[in-house]
Amino acid sequence: MGDASGRVIAVANMKGGVGKTTTVVMLAEGFAAEGARVVVLDLDAQASASYCFAPDDELKTIISARKTITSFLADRILLNDRVPIHDYLTPAISKVTKAGEALPIDMVAASPRLRLLEREIILKMAEGKFGARSLEGQSLRVLQKAIGELKETYDVILFDCAPGISAFTEVAIRLADLVVVPTIPDFLSTLGFEAFRLSIWENAHVTRSSLPRPLRRPAVLPTRVSGRKRQHREVLDALMAEAGEADAPFELFGITIGDQAAIERAMDPEQFAEAPTFEQKWGASVASVRGLVNEIRRRLDG
Ligand SMILES: Nc1ncnc2c1ncn2[C@@H]1O[C@H](COP(=O)(O)OP(=O)(O)OP(=O)(O)O)[C@@H](O)[C@H]1O
Ligand SMILES: [Mg+2]
Repeated sequence: MGDASGRVIAVANMKGGVGKTTTVVMLAEGFAAEGARVVVLDLDAQASASYCFAPDDELKTIISARKTITSFLADRILLNDRVPIHDYLTPAISKVTKAGEALPIDMVAASPRLRLLEREIILKMAEGKFGARSLEGQSLRVLQKAIGELKETYDVILFDCAPGISAFTEVAIRLADLVVVPTIPDFLSTLGFEAFRLSIWENAHVTRSSLPRPLRRPAVLPTRVSGRKRQHREVLDALMAEAGEADAPFELFGITIGDQAAIERAMDPEQFAEAPTFEQKWGASVASVRGLVNEIRRRLDG
């Protein structure tokens, strides 16, 4: 990597708290530590990924400066303003260093208003302001163009999606070369994954006719895995058996992300001094970050 090939990775799951944002941060810093130029687009009104990269008052400043996906979508969809996505980027957001340099990560932050914006667009549509296009159709048109522009500059483009299924998640999944679905290998999480898969990959053509089919099957990444839990081992075996069948409805990562104190710590910005190195930040979980990046590279190429 190095000369912008612009691969798009969306991290999504209907279920909350399964490690979506953690996966995005691992991938952003893991790819950037290998020299790739990375941009993170936060599509979650909770703004967790944004806060991880811009803790304390930094995110407030970014939001007041309108450097958010919310402002971008409002300007593009509600005002029909032709501003480029680059105007909404916060450059060099990472505090983490490698060989004395900050990791090359830029970000389009989220703000809590993102949720309201969805409603605002739907209301305007009900007034007949946009012709026949749905919220999903509008968002796809605008984000597709933005991704096209970002592909010229970045090697890796990451979407952090909100839990649940929103119009923005539906669009991110369609724009992605790879959709990573972090899943805790327990009963309720696999049930949640099944519901998610059916509503987007199987019924997409029926219920969301304005959107194309996703480019490829979802790729399940087992997260927060505890080797000591028998249930985790059983669910992983079942997932492996299903993924091994011909015409399996999903791919399964070979790597699993363990439930690791080092990962939980890495996700807390208050745990670190001003500019930790990549190795200081991820500690005992560096191997998991590198392993995840390597497998994503293989999956993108294969
Ligand atoms: N592999 C792991 N080991 C230990 N803790 C983890 C791991 N992955 C995630 N966590 C912790 O679990 C919590 C939820 O993780 P995260 O915020 O990434 O989930 P999420 O799916 O993005 O949640 P949401 O649905 O709210 O967006 C966080 O406190 C995080 O630190
Ligand atoms: Mg999250």
